[in-house]
Amino acid sequence: MEKTIEQELKKVKTEADVAAFHQRFLGKSGEITALLQGLRNVDPAKRAEMGAKYNELKKSTEEKLFKLQSEIREKAATEKLMQDPLVDITIPDTKSRRGGLHPISIVIREVEDVFANMGFIIEDGNEIATEFENFTSVNVPASHPARDMQDTFWLSDGRVLRTHTSAWQNYMLKKYGPEFKAICPGRVFRNESTDASHDNTFFQVEGMMVGKDVSVANLIYFMKEVLTAIFKKDIKVRLRPGYFPFVEPGFELDLNCLFCGGSGCPTCKHSGWIELIPCGLVHPKVLEHGEIDTTKYSGFAFGLGLTRLAMMKYGIRDIRYFNSGDVRVLEQFTPVV
Ligand code: FA5
Repeated sequence: MEKTIEQELKKVKTEADVAAFHQRFLGKSGEITALLQGLRNVDPAKRAEMGAKYNELKKSTEEKLFKLQSEIREKAATEKLMQDPLVDITIPDTKSRRGGLHPISIVIREVEDVFANMGFIIEDGNEIATEFENFTSVNVPASHPARDMQDTFWLSDGRVLRTHTSAWQNYMLKKYGPEFKAICPGRVFRNESTDASHDNTFFQVEGMMVGKDVSVANLIYFMKEVLTAIFKKDIKVRLRPGYFPFVEPGFELDLNCLFCGGSGCPTCKHSGWIELIPCGLVHPKVLEHGEIDTTKYSGFAFGLGLTRLAMMKYGIRDIRYFNSGDVRVLEQFTPVV
């Protein structure tokens, strides 16, 4: 039967052939239908096995026929268009709406450009990370309280949706160490409630520079370069001590809130500052996990909150707009033609 079906499918060239084929094999009195109906007379011991086989045959035949039918329809539609003297398919379409880039994509491209121009490698990390990559390799062992700061979504196989792009640090160290500069932008996930400046899915850019005598001065230089390039104007930042198990010393680089100018508003939680780039010198334990000789090399790392950066750049007061899929919001940033 399979052989006959294959031969007959080859002959299907028109809509009429599709209908005839359907009637012969899949219709009420079709040959495959008859096979399925005949199952009731089959020895019960063999019925399940044969039933599965016939059902599979029916499904695959339906799929093949449907594919052929779609091809036939598409071909007919194109031929009709080509023959219509009033339709010139080479004229650009100006009436229907075309998509544009999401504001996050625009900012990612800008950040990538700035860092690429400064000699950084651009890496593309996985959104699913192992527990080792997300936590242990960045000096957050199983019992460490810092794990609570980044509650996450666990997969049934023990892996996690990465809570931060720092999950890519170990990979970068092993791939490029001991002397390199690289960034890794991407989506991260946190199991936390949302508000104007917190979402459960957002973007970060991880950055790392490892080499001889890499210091906080290098870190501040690169942070200033990227922020000036993105905002294209002078912006106020502050550096304060911050704790992360994977850096020592650790800092928080905050941006003066561009919505209220620093006087306080819901977006900056009335503090006047937006927490934007946690950073610091890479902790020796992290370097060791990455097989780097800590007596010779040091490094800095940062985890820029890219979604918050886009909020500041475009004046978007509520982070939840980004994932809302509402084109009325999104098309304000990239004109939709
Ligand atoms: C981290 O994720 C660290 N991995 C960053 C880091 C990297 C520190 C390398 C030192 C060295 P934190 O949880 O603070 O840190 O998040 C980093 C940035 O992501 C924040 O400054 C903020 O801009 C952004 N961010 C954090 N949580 C959210 C959230 N729920 N919604 C939107 N943005 C967030």
